[in-house]
Amino acid sequence: MTDRYAVIGNPIEQSKSPLIHTTFAHVTGQDIEYTKLLAPLEGFAQAVDAFRAAGGRGMNVTAPFKLDAFAYATDLAPSAQMAGAVNAMKFVGDKVYAENFDGVGLVRDLVHNLDCPIQGRRVLILGAGGATRGALLPLLAQAPAEVVIVNRTLAKAQELAELAHQHQTGAVPVRGVGYADVTGAFDLVLNATSASLTAELPPLSESAFASGCLAYDLTYGKGLTPFLKLARQAGVMRLADGVGMLAEQAAEAFEWWRGMRPDTAAVIEKITVPLV
Ligand code: ATR
Repeated sequence: MTDRYAVIGNPIEQSKSPLIHTTFAHVTGQDIEYTKLLAPLEGFAQAVDAFRAAGGRGMNVTAPFKLDAFAYATDLAPSAQMAGAVNAMKFVGDKVYAENFDGVGLVRDLVHNLDCPIQGRRVLILGAGGATRGALLPLLAQAPAEVVIVNRTLAKAQELAELAHQHQTGAVPVRGVGYADVTGAFDLVLNATSASLTAELPPLSESAFASGCLAYDLTYGKGLTPFLKLARQAGVMRLADGVGMLAEQAAEAFEWWRGMRPDTAAVIEKITVPLV
């Protein structure tokens, strides 16, 4: 029997997950059906209950339901606990296993696809919301020299830095600062704010980009965002958006569900929006 999966969100029309997972299933020879599920804003639990009752095996979760999924899960992986949000669920009997693969997907894209080793590098992350929370531990596990979190609301950056210190297994220095207090230049600058969704530019100085730096916008499909334009203006040659992160977090979920890891290159090529 064909195993059923879905991505749940509201809105959901824009989601690339069905295309990604259907391609993965095709190349790995897996017999699955993967659909989009639009749930009412107040109807997450009912929609998931119904999907499970109909034999659904797993789900990806997108906005605005990542916190609902966190509450719905019976077994939260450490990645989901640290992120405070869930982006993938697996249903086994009464159990709802929950993961957050965004951070690990980001790191895999950086290290494997973009050939940007993080070990020993200075890393700057813009924003202190859910995207940064999800990215922190996987980034720290790569042993960068230092991670600086910069945010408009300083207290949130400091809280996240503190949380990272409590949870990381290594001893990477992590600091939370305001935009006026970013000093020195960074080998990797990650925009994990939601500013690119509304074409806004975080107030970052051009001097934050080291020569040879990679500037990475976690947003996907917006072309050359104001952040990436700033980086280019600062002389940064290597620019990337979150397309690879999207494909890699999907590959993580696929492997978790199906026991085999698909290659992501074809999917990335298919869904890339040029950075212009
Ligand atoms: P997400 O889950 O996508 O991370 P979020 O939790 O709402 O969304 O967090 C959004 C992040 O983007 C926050 O760090 C926010 O900064 P504040 O905490 O100071 O609000 C940041 N952000 C949003 N718009 C921004 C802008 N125009 N410039 C700089 N930072 C911005």
